[in-house]
Amino acid sequence: MLINFWYPMATSAELTGTPLPVRALTQDFVVFRDAQGRAHCLANTCTHRGGALAAGKVVGDNIQCPYHGWQFAGDGRCQRIPSLGVDASIPARTRVDAYPVDERYGIVFAFLGDLPEAERPPILAVKEWEQPGWRSTLQHFAIRGYYERSVENGIDPAHNEYVHDTHGFSGEREEEYRVGDMRIEEAPPWGRGFWHSFKAPPLQGELQKYRPGEGNLEAGTGYFGTNHVWTYIHPAPNYLIHQYLYERPIDEENTHLYLVCARNFALEEKSDAYVMERNLYVARQDMAIIENLHPVLTPDTNTREFMVNSDKCILYYRESQKEWERRGWRIDMDEVHRSRGKVAYAIPSPARREQKGWVLEPVPLVPAAATASATGAGDEHG
Ligand code: FES
Ligand SMILES: [Fe+2]
Repeated sequence: MLINFWYPMATSAELTGTPLPVRALTQDFVVFRDAQGRAHCLANTCTHRGGALAAGKVVGDNIQCPYHGWQFAGDGRCQRIPSLGVDASIPARTRVDAYPVDERYGIVFAFLGDLPEAERPPILAVKEWEQPGWRSTLQHFAIRGYYERSVENGIDPAHNEYVHDTHGFSGEREEEYRVGDMRIEEAPPWGRGFWHSFKAPPLQGELQKYRPGEGNLEAGTGYFGTNHVWTYIHPAPNYLIHQYLYERPIDEENTHLYLVCARNFALEEKSDAYVMERNLYVARQDMAIIENLHPVLTPDTNTREFMVNSDKCILYYRESQKEWERRGWRIDMDEVHRSRGKVAYAIPSPARREQKGWVLEPVPLVPAAATASATGAGDEHG
């Protein structure tokens, strides 16, 4: 799991007046709305004696710890220590890590890392959002599985034929089936993807009017950063589906997915339910595969899996992951597991670059230099 990316923490709709406890990257956060309606995301551990802020309440613009009533503003600064009396001055070291928040597409995103604003990887943009001729839905799924495996499933063109009866023929036409040319689409420096065409079964129900019978389907997909995936499906010129998937790893075995699905057909609100039901149907088929993969994590080396041409984009993704790891962004999970229950860590927030002296230890990271020498050699692709 990597720091320094934007993670979807909640839907806008579920963030009301009550603070939400949210787990991401094996760490705990509180997400809350202040009195002005602005969303905030803080480390969940109170700097006093470890109270869970998310179990407290929102008081004006602050979150109040349930244990001794300390209050913290959206920027993480402690505003009140009741036991010291009303006039007490507040030591700077009581500050809690606070993370940049960007609320869009009905999702509350938090930037979990310490990079300064200009260096942050952006959120994958939904270009069709609120554009004329388009309508979007948002869905939220929980899966039992590791997020890298889920991203890799998203950018794998060969699974459609076997996993999704809506996209492929379940291997019944083996003599005609193969993954054809993958036309690479670069999104430097954060992502890569590809386009390809494949034969698809007839559309169902009302959708048949867009394309009667079987058809040649154009599809594109790619990763953007460690946890965002785009998938464009073009069954017919006037029937376009553009999907954006944002993933939040809870830990190594659990991931939450937020799916924005933009469409240029069936634009009435009443069609949302049908579209979402289809998306859930397809998502469940993917989940059934991801939840049973071995090992749960992606292997450390590509030689422990036999990659073929259709896995090309997955290899690009793994290279990108290694590159971000070399920058020192990967959480040292072995160390996190070793200190489980003994140390409360915080993902370092941007303020740590300006202010010295924090109560919580930063989460252990795989050192940048050490990974640079450990990777590169020995990894064979193919
Ligand atoms: S632990 Fe939070 S106020 Fe004491
Ligand atoms: Fe799939």
